[in-house]
Amino acid sequence: MKKIAILAGDGIGPEVIEQAMRVLNALRRFDFEYNAEEALVGGAAYAVHGHPLPEVTLALAREADAILLGAVGEWKYDGLERALRPEQAILGLRQELGLFANLRPAVLYPELAAASPLKPEVVAGMDLLIVRELTGDVYFGKPRGMRVAPDGTFAGQREGYDTMRYAEGEIRRIAHIAFQAARGRQRKLCNVDKANVLETCQFWREVMNDVARDYPDVELSHMYVDNAAMQLVRAPASFDVVVTGNLFGDILSDEAAVLTGSIGMLASASLNGTGGGLFEPGHGSAPDIAGKNIANPLAAILSVAMMLRHSLERSDLASLVEAAVCRVLKDGLRTADIHAPGTQLVGTVEMGDAVVAALVAA
Ligand code: IPM
Ligand code: MG
Repeated sequence: MKKIAILAGDGIGPEVIEQAMRVLNALRRFDFEYNAEEALVGGAAYAVHGHPLPEVTLALAREADAILLGAVGEWKYDGLERALRPEQAILGLRQELGLFANLRPAVLYPELAAASPLKPEVVAGMDLLIVRELTGDVYFGKPRGMRVAPDGTFAGQREGYDTMRYAEGEIRRIAHIAFQAARGRQRKLCNVDKANVLETCQFWREVMNDVARDYPDVELSHMYVDNAAMQLVRAPASFDVVVTGNLFGDILSDEAAVLTGSIGMLASASLNGTGGGLFEPGHGSAPDIAGKNIANPLAAILSVAMMLRHSLERSDLASLVEAAVCRVLKDGLRTADIHAPGTQLVGTVEMGDAVVAALVAA
């Protein structure tokens, strides 16, 4: 039986995960059995264990077939040293479990087009997938640190430094994930880098071109990251799959997310390449609205769909969950973040009720 680790985390994490778990539970009627086990992560874990990613949590995450994570982060932990801050739990899970492939879909739901900061005619048809490399780049590259600068114009002064580096195998494996994803979609892959300036990116681009030979059916293009940031707001519907490194992917995925007008609607997956993965909503812990029954649980519910598809070998159920989410949107139900005149304002729990009802009716 599949084992799912549930790491609800901080802020609105627990309440959106609760609705996601109700959806999982409702799937039992479709010949789906699983074991769910919960553990603390982020600030909630620090409060009890003195660490945002305690050994018990890591052990559970390791043995699970898939991990469903809510969100981490609380204001009261902002002053902690970096190694103990809640977001270190996310970085630790990525690194410890080798979750190198981050899939971040950014889809414009037609019903929510008015919520986009872009004009409706510019954003219409936006449906892209960012494939972000997640365990390399300046995020994890060594050496890094703070020291007295040994050379250069400012020699003798204190300096901070990080290292951007990517090994060939590291680029190849994310390239394959991206090309395969493109195969399942519109067969267009845009590689985003800064090869005009950075050696790392020039090498990255060479490897991308090499891997492209295995995928003659996919159209590969290249774009510098500054231009990509611009094209994303100018013509977001022109993208299908975007592949990029860790830092650029962090930035571009937030940009893409906000264009859909509904950060409360976007799911994400972080995969290890052999079926294991961590699935989480794209939004943060939003402590300002925690516990008020106003958070949008749909991103967490759509993360369940990604988990079913990528780790639990039940893409049939993934499609059912996605269809149920579309159904409730069509029926006019909206949480506060996506509410507009003429639609029905509902709370976190009521939105969960509606998705479960749509599933049961399926
Ligand atoms: C994300 C977040 C993380 C990142 C932070 C919380 C470490 O911004 O998942 O995009 O930078 O990767
Ligand atoms: Mg980010």
